Amino acid sequence: DLLEQIKYLEKIFTVDQAKLKEVTNHFVKELEKGKSSVLLRLSVEGGSIPMNPTWVMGFPDGHETGTFLALDMGGTNLRVCEIILLEEKGEFDIIQSKYRMPEELKTGDSDELWEYIADCIQQFIEYHHEVEDLEKLDKIPLGFTFSFPATQNYIDNGVLQRWTKGFDISGVEGKDVAPLFEAALAKRKLPIRLSALINDTTGTLIASAYTDDTMRIGCIFGTGCNAAYMENCGSVPKIASYNLPPEMPIAINCEYGAFDNEHLVLPRTPYDVIVDNDSPRPGQQAFEKMIAGLYLGELFRLVLVDLHDNKSCKVFQGQDISRLRKAYTLDSSFLSMIEEDPFENLSETGDLFRKELGIRTNKPELELCRRLAELIGTRAARLSACGVAAICKKKNIETCHVGADGSVFNKYPHFKARGAVALREILDWKKAEMDPISILAAEDGSGVGAALIAALTIKRVKAGN
Ligand code: BG6
Ligand code: GLC
Repeated sequence: DLLEQIKYLEKIFTVDQAKLKEVTNHFVKELEKGKSSVLLRLSVEGGSIPMNPTWVMGFPDGHETGTFLALDMGGTNLRVCEIILLEEKGEFDIIQSKYRMPEELKTGDSDELWEYIADCIQQFIEYHHEVEDLEKLDKIPLGFTFSFPATQNYIDNGVLQRWTKGFDISGVEGKDVAPLFEAALAKRKLPIRLSALINDTTGTLIASAYTDDTMRIGCIFGTGCNAAYMENCGSVPKIASYNLPPEMPIAINCEYGAFDNEHLVLPRTPYDVIVDNDSPRPGQQAFEKMIAGLYLGELFRLVLVDLHDNKSCKVFQGQDISRLRKAYTLDSSFLSMIEEDPFENLSETGDLFRKELGIRTNKPELELCRRLAELIGTRAARLSACGVAAICKKKNIETCHVGADGSVFNKYPHFKARGAVALREILDWKKAEMDPISILAAEDGSGVGAALIAALTIKRVKAGN
């Protein structure tokens, strides 16, 4: 009976080559549509992928210098960095501190968020600088990596379109986050000037290209998933009114976690539907909800609860599964550990269930859990490849490097290899020593990338562009 369940799960969670191609082809069309939606309007008229212009106009040349702060509000942590871009081409020094992003804050209110962030920056500054020095300091330019969809009409501001990744802080959607953040800084009289508001994908793109000029795309595979790449201003209809030189490059933050919100091509399972319905923003981020780190453990949990409650096979029969019933109780590291269990008898997986969930498991149950983790992890990696392939197809890129960051990319077992196999299937490559397009671990985009973007912005302002 369990075997039959495994077969059913294999059927619903497997994405074959034909489906990968179908998803990618639809993706290419949606990326194109997103570029024409109305820029300063919050409702997206050009399909569901926002394709946000970032006002990052080109790559650094390696001669950027100066001292910058970076604030990184990512999926899991809050990080403050001080980066010194050095005279030597491409060299930099960095110091940083990480702060916990308290769970309550993610669903709290706006003031609490900005106060907390400003407190972290203050702590960082006071720790790394003498108080007397602070008074002498000119305002340090800060790049704020705010990794959510934002409408920007210039690089140092951004109206939050909507929260993603389970955040649900009232009073911020539809507002420019720059003044909210700056007000909290001003209260503390910190010697800081917000120079650039950026997305983690844009930072990743810029920081990766800084050290590797074949980098064309920056991606995040973490709590959320998304990518950025360069367009020519002339091919982005929604910024036509700015009359920018048509050949001038501009980084586009795709926000492609929102791909297929219409549910036309993605092979959603009943579990994906539950994840969506129970999220703070049902109907949003359809693609992200199937593949990003925030949701992998939840999908796994939902399947097990369903198998326990509703299926004749009854996993964990007669046991108290109350801990497993708690939404989001498992994160993607739980699946990582299962996929990494080196033992034939899956004893580490058994320990994990006992310790984390108070559930005893038998051999067939452990095998089902291992297979289920593989299925969810493999589907995530394969569908992730569709976004990258779609950008390459759209831009006619035949060969390039793609810079990637995020906990799933860096830590989830086999994610990179599975993604590479899927890219080969989508783009019909034969197995070769080197794939023409390869996804590589990026430089620290939200630290170095944010500093570089702040530096580029200051350079542009000085040059009067
Ligand atoms: C970090 C970057 O390395 O990765 C962040 O510094 C980014 O800017 C993050 O948001 C994405 O990964 P995760 O897993 O924390 O969402
Ligand atoms: C979500 C955010 C996006 C971010 C991504 C990765 O999709 O909306 O801005 O880049 O997560 O962190």
